[in-house]
Amino acid sequence: MDNRPIGFFDSGLGGLTCITPLMKKLPEEKIIYFGDTARTPYGSKAVSTIKSFSMEIADFLVKCNVKMIVIACNTVSATCVDLLREKFPKIPIVGIIAPAAQEVADTCQDSNVGIIGTKVTIASHAYSGMVKEMNPDINIHEIACPAFVPLIEEGIIENDIMDLTIKYYMDDFVKDNKIDTVILGCTHYPLIKKNIERIYPDLKILNPSSIIVNRIEKILTEKDMLAQGSDFRNVFYASDLSENFINMIDHIFEDEEEDAKVKFLNFDLEKELNKKINK
Ligand code: DGL
Repeated sequence: MDNRPIGFFDSGLGGLTCITPLMKKLPEEKIIYFGDTARTPYGSKAVSTIKSFSMEIADFLVKCNVKMIVIACNTVSATCVDLLREKFPKIPIVGIIAPAAQEVADTCQDSNVGIIGTKVTIASHAYSGMVKEMNPDINIHEIACPAFVPLIEEGIIENDIMDLTIKYYMDDFVKDNKIDTVILGCTHYPLIKKNIERIYPDLKILNPSSIIVNRIEKILTEKDMLAQGSDFRNVFYASDLSENFINMIDHIFEDEEEDAKVKFLNFDLEKELNKKINK
């Protein structure tokens, strides 16, 4: 048994889409979440920048004494998993891509699979590379949809602008490649899952934000690190707590019970970085 919290991070609010499935499956587990809202989006930045941001956040989570780090961001998982494991060898680090790639390899034998994600995730070919390694027979196609994250972070979801943007990226992609299964290869995209379902009712949609929870459970079980009766409290940090962000959080958790709702604390990034420079 290990009652320390699990550390989650993302460039912003996308990683929160992993939190509700985790709380449902493993209600005893406690969470420290970091959303780097001051520097989001990561998905169109240089890989070297994403690496340095991720190192800072992982370092912060390790200092918070988390028992595991979950990279609740496909962009970071696509580019930084090996680096983070190398820098923090003592702590289990779970990326979001491998469990979903395994699910595709195991269940999509006769499908035409489409991966949608940020520019960096798609350019890395992390999904297609992993799936092909596990099952070379799977037909897999990838497309970057860089406008989705800024619109989602702005809360532009249930309206025509989002629907048109989805069609702009996905209409020809789905038609030309005869896509029947789509992977939401960015943790922000579950927030537009309903739009995608409405526009393409025949598509099967796989959501890595839910799939990862089984991998977390498996690792904690194998290492005998599941929590039981922990008296830690869930803590959610954001590096920029804008009003817009707070509205979005209320929207994400609107269907949840009061005690499952999330309240964020402001994390003063500049102060933390200065502390480091002056050390
Ligand atoms: N939510 C992140 C992902 O899963 C990235 C969004 C972004 O910052 O571009 O890729």
